[in-house]
Amino acid sequence: MKELVFPDINFDNLERWTGDVSPLECILIKDETHNVKSFTFKSKKDAWFQFFPGQHTTLFLNIDGKDVMRTYTIASSPTRPNTITITNKRMQDGVVTNWMHDSLKVGDCVEALDIGGSFSVALDQPKPKILLLSGGSGITPMLSMSRYFFDLSMNLDLVFIHNAQSENDLIAKAELDYYDSTQDNFKRHYVCDVASESWDGASGYLSEEMMVDLVPDFTEREIYCCGPEPYMQNVKKILNSCDYDMSLYHQESFDIESSTAQNNMAIDADLPEHKVSESEINEYNVTLSKSGEVLQCGSNTSILVSIQKQGITVPFACSQGLCGTCRTKMLDGTVEMDAQGGLLKSHEKEGYILTCCSYPTSDIVLDL
Ligand code: FES
Repeated sequence: MKELVFPDINFDNLERWTGDVSPLECILIKDETHNVKSFTFKSKKDAWFQFFPGQHTTLFLNIDGKDVMRTYTIASSPTRPNTITITNKRMQDGVVTNWMHDSLKVGDCVEALDIGGSFSVALDQPKPKILLLSGGSGITPMLSMSRYFFDLSMNLDLVFIHNAQSENDLIAKAELDYYDSTQDNFKRHYVCDVASESWDGASGYLSEEMMVDLVPDFTEREIYCCGPEPYMQNVKKILNSCDYDMSLYHQESFDIESSTAQNNMAIDADLPEHKVSESEINEYNVTLSKSGEVLQCGSNTSILVSIQKQGITVPFACSQGLCGTCRTKMLDGTVEMDAQGGLLKSHEKEGYILTCCSYPTSDIVLDL
């Protein structure tokens, strides 16, 4: 019998994973429901993963000869740092997701960009009472946060309400039930849009009455919400009608699956123009330090658009300053940036910008 070799769990001796370190090797594929699978990856170089629960990574694939990108929230917890797990649902037009469901096999490797995003309870200083709300696939950041709380036995009062279409669509139910039954300060509730005969839990659209019934003190809780846009709008409507302090409300608001992420990276995104009056528009030079190219960019045009107009391919996904995919280091110059949470403060301090929502206010030099 071969000698058993234990992995090194002294993380000081190991390399921390970033997209540049190594591809990700798929080591496990698990059916979660009839149309949802979990894909677990490890670094090809055994690097470890450091991230905040709720953050995401962007897979970078070549499918049928086309470069495609797709951002996924990591469903696993950073407390289990040797792997990351992506849980996703088959979609009618989900190019990347459907390819993963149909073609990705254990042992295959995929390229991925660095982990980013700012939707994470661990990045805030939340109240000691927290409510997680998720609809459908919006469960993934909540799974990461629930696993994180459970592993760390944190002294927090956590309630989690998950909405699914039906009982058959409940993801990780056995695991959440286990947390609920073994940890006094973790409670989970499920709400099914359509109740089967065997379902004796809550059903229908989330309503104020339902919230009061399931979590009587919900207005005293810091709330994290993720799901389809109509779901989140409904949640906000309920909270506004209860005079909830919206400064305690956080949501993951982008639906990357339907964005430009799945398309070829080279296509032009239809990005909004920055509002600058005609008389104030200035033209600036954008120098790409690696290629030496110099582009012109108006102060009302995003840097990403001006790069794309030159036919240069650079990574982007949400085009709204949310996902962090277009993050680029600015070596010189100044910009005005309308980031919507896609850039960590620490990265901003290191000089990174999001090109999709940055507008030059001087000549700039990019590390591209
Ligand atoms: S493309 Fe998502 S932040 Fe720029």
